[in-house]
Amino acid sequence: MTDSIQNELDCLRIASRHGGGEKRIEAQHAKGKLTARERVDLLLDQGSFEEIGAFVTHRCTNFNMGDQTIPGDGVVTGTGTIEGRSVAVFSQDFTVFGGSLSEEYAKKIARLMDIAMKLGIPVIGLNDSGGARIQEGVVSLAGYSSLFLRNTKASGVIPQISAIMGPCAGGAVYSPALTDFVFMVDGTSYMHITGPDVVKAVTHEEVTSEELGGASVHASVSGTSHFTCADDAECLAKIRRLLSFLPLNNAEDPPRLLSDDSVDRREESLNTFIPESANQPYDMKSVIEKIVDDGDFFEVQPDYAGNILVGFARMAGRSIGLVANQPTNMAGVLDSNASEKAARFIRFCDAFHIPIVTFEDVPGFLPGTDQEHGGIIRRGAKLLYAYCEATVPKLTVITRKAYGGAYCVMSSQSTGGDWNVAWPSAEIAVMGAAGAAKVIFRREISADADPVAKEKEKIEEYEKKFANPFDAARRGFIDEVIEPADTRRLIIRALELYSTKRESSPAKKHGSIPL
Ligand code: HXC
Repeated sequence: MTDSIQNELDCLRIASRHGGGEKRIEAQHAKGKLTARERVDLLLDQGSFEEIGAFVTHRCTNFNMGDQTIPGDGVVTGTGTIEGRSVAVFSQDFTVFGGSLSEEYAKKIARLMDIAMKLGIPVIGLNDSGGARIQEGVVSLAGYSSLFLRNTKASGVIPQISAIMGPCAGGAVYSPALTDFVFMVDGTSYMHITGPDVVKAVTHEEVTSEELGGASVHASVSGTSHFTCADDAECLAKIRRLLSFLPLNNAEDPPRLLSDDSVDRREESLNTFIPESANQPYDMKSVIEKIVDDGDFFEVQPDYAGNILVGFARMAGRSIGLVANQPTNMAGVLDSNASEKAARFIRFCDAFHIPIVTFEDVPGFLPGTDQEHGGIIRRGAKLLYAYCEATVPKLTVITRKAYGGAYCVMSSQSTGGDWNVAWPSAEIAVMGAAGAAKVIFRREISADADPVAKEKEKIEEYEKKFANPFDAARRGFIDEVIEPADTRRLIIRALELYSTKRESSPAKKHGSIPL
């Protein structure tokens, strides 16, 4: 190589690495944010990053843009490894035109996604962008459109993970919204279709970025994000952790990571864990932590619809997806938000061969005009659909209540559950005894000389019949009534047995889930 070519190469590399220049890098750091390249370095195994497209520049000449080109054009793209497994990553550089997306920038991401699809490896997008590059007009919009198409085609084929690490707007939020998991950094990241200024101009509403689309809003109100992180470093570490549960693509099984936790471990405390009174709550998260490998439960969407828990764990080293009603939150009732949260999680697990383990204690669907008018029938049906459609191993443990439609929904045997067991504390009925007695014994109760005593007697009669797992077990809807202390060993055995499960669905273009 001649000296002049070497010089040119060195200059291009330096320019590309410096992005928008020292001042803007300082401003980025002053906000508590890392730069695009620092983020890639922290995310990937040390020294594993191979960049592509570092010298690409935009082609725009509008508004004197021809005089302002920066090699790389505001996005760092390439491949690397996480725990030795390959991933594709793009990292938006806010120091270059606010990380906004140009035609060439879009092409860089599109090429990366095409490579990821060919190789069958996850795509991780680190987003920090003002959306479509305003100076470019429609070519930038077309660039986004090409990414939306790729996000959609890649859905269910390779895991797609998005981190929101700055003020993201427009296309910079719709592309992440199409991906499987969204991480946000508290205090420095925002997601909105457009910022407060435009909101004010259009609706006259005065709102801050934080109120409009801060991390806590999307974690607890809109349900758009799945994980909230204290800073960039925690966000990148959490992405690495999430990936440890996932396969690289839909043709592979998740990695098996054995631990020292014995597969035969009994958990005696579970035998007395369920409170005497059926109305007293207990923490289902503790139940999960007592059962899974090393008590390690990686909860997804912990701040949204807390009446249902979803997340990943391992048993005998195998990745599982957990879905569990949470009695400490609204008695674990199913409402619209909980149904959608769980449905989405189940569909992800099913797409990527992750068995679903359900812990059930559910008094039913939440009644009332709020829920009915908000679409509980349609939105609750998504959960039914997701469970029925899933062909991965589906194991269910009923710990206490399994009432009504909620019994059916939560992976019951008749909806295709593979292994359905109950603890002795299970109550499997159309509804709770008090409500049931009032409906079916109404005449008898009101005709009695002492209706209060009669009602009590009838409630007890209904409880005796159904406040237990035995009627369901006699009918074969429960495969076994198990000792709670033995739950870990039995689930591990069932996971082993069902690891060879093969089930296909009828040929179709795709189903029509009630969206
Ligand atoms: C070009 C942009 C830009 C954009 C920001 N910049 N957004 N340049 N196109 N979309 C530039 C700014 O001009 C500025 O340049 C630098 O990036 C930093 O921006 P600031 O505004 O100084 O930063 P900050 O105060 O932190 O505010 C960040 C922001 C704000 C909230 C992202 O810039 C903003 O509201 N931008 C527009 C957001 C938006 O409405 N985008 C929607 C696009 S439409 P200098 O040279 O001054 O440093 C879209 C449609 C896609 O994306 C299709 C969806 C379906």
